[in-house]
Amino acid sequence: MAYRTERSQALFLDAQKYLAGGVGSGTRAPSSGWVPSPVYVERGQGSHLWDTDENEYVDYLMGGGPLILGHRPQPVIDRVCQTLQERGSMFSLAHDLEIEASRKICECIPSIEKMRFDNSGTSAVQRAIRLARAFTGKTKVVRFEGHYHGWSDQIHWSNRPPLEAAGRRNAPRPIPNSNGIPEVLAETLVVLPWNDVDLLEKTLRAHKDEIACVITEPILGNTGGILPQPGYLQAMRAITAENDIVLIFDEVLTGFRVALGGAQALYGITPDLTTLAKAMAGGFPAAAVGGKAEIMDLIARGEVMYGGTYNSNPIVTSAVITTLEMLRQPGVYERMNSLGERLANGLVDRMRSAGFPACWTGVGAMFQPWFCEPEQMPGDYRAAVPILKSSPFPAFWKGLMSSGVLVQPRQDNLFLLSTAHTAADVEFTLAAAERALAAMR
Ligand SMILES: Cc1ncc(COP(=O)(O)O)c(C=O)c1O
Repeated sequence: MAYRTERSQALFLDAQKYLAGGVGSGTRAPSSGWVPSPVYVERGQGSHLWDTDENEYVDYLMGGGPLILGHRPQPVIDRVCQTLQERGSMFSLAHDLEIEASRKICECIPSIEKMRFDNSGTSAVQRAIRLARAFTGKTKVVRFEGHYHGWSDQIHWSNRPPLEAAGRRNAPRPIPNSNGIPEVLAETLVVLPWNDVDLLEKTLRAHKDEIACVITEPILGNTGGILPQPGYLQAMRAITAENDIVLIFDEVLTGFRVALGGAQALYGITPDLTTLAKAMAGGFPAAAVGGKAEIMDLIARGEVMYGGTYNSNPIVTSAVITTLEMLRQPGVYERMNSLGERLANGLVDRMRSAGFPACWTGVGAMFQPWFCEPEQMPGDYRAAVPILKSSPFPAFWKGLMSSGVLVQPRQDNLFLLSTAHTAADVEFTLAAAERALAAMR
């Protein structure tokens, strides 16, 4: 069937009358590459998604990360429905499900000795920063260019800064990512390029009396899956510990995705605090912050305020319990990661056969093909900018979409897999990629 977008386009016109920008989040808008209009979804099942124009796709967006078990995983849906029907949707009181869900999270991620639930990654990051400041009595936050930690005023800076405004590489200028963020908050931030041990060490030693925490994505999912250079995260762990600086791993994207224990399990690092969301609840809006008991106990002692009407409600805690039960089955990550690697390698083969330079980065369940040679693969945001600007990825995306493969439209985003993806999905995707690349040539 020919690829159609007429109904989505008509719905987008209607949506703009009531919804600001016609969408619920900027990442779904034409300005994020969704042209001619956002995709209006009818339904999803497993690894597949159908839109309102009756196009069927193999879905590699996976709700931006939460759908680690695919769309509508039956055991999670059943458990959530049972909780709703037999117990309720909201108590704002204590209940057993939050104990079971938090116990499971602590078992999967040993650096989390104690935790609290939250409702979004953005919010969990704010809590982690507050805890770090309260624990150290210091204020400044080190964050890295190209990383995304949610949209709050205090951290949504220098995510994708224009290089002409961003200052020198060894002393970047913090750039707010939105109007309305008070300029004065720049004084609370130290922005650095990622994957540069020497600069990190120099900066932390020079400002150790002011810096409360370093926050990092352990794998740079928000700039196309750039990996930490060997030893970088280990050095970051050592230098922060030596200088009484709290290390926060933002595992909102990587947690329960790259491994059951997150990226910290892959790299063998014990951060002081971890933020989680997305894959943790298999498609329901749960998040968490957790880590060392001595930091989390600031909450227990009432020294750090931690509120939230919707925190650890019975819907999301039921979803967490069942999602983690499914993810803890033997072989789940091996299978998902090896399928993802097969797809990533297959895409790179086909890109090269079509005459394009190609490589991929990330891990199997979360990767991105790049139109550059492996030795040109950037290690930080600044090195990525020229490649992003000249990448033919938008044309590749268009070809994939019209052949029934749904991915994020930007080169700096990711292919995300789920446990529901199959070898047949991979074969289908590779055939679609071949057609897309032939058209680009
Ligand atoms: C690493 C990381 N941190 C934080 C966030 C913000 O999470 P949320 O969209 O749930 O607020 C995201 C979202 O994509 C993310 O990728």
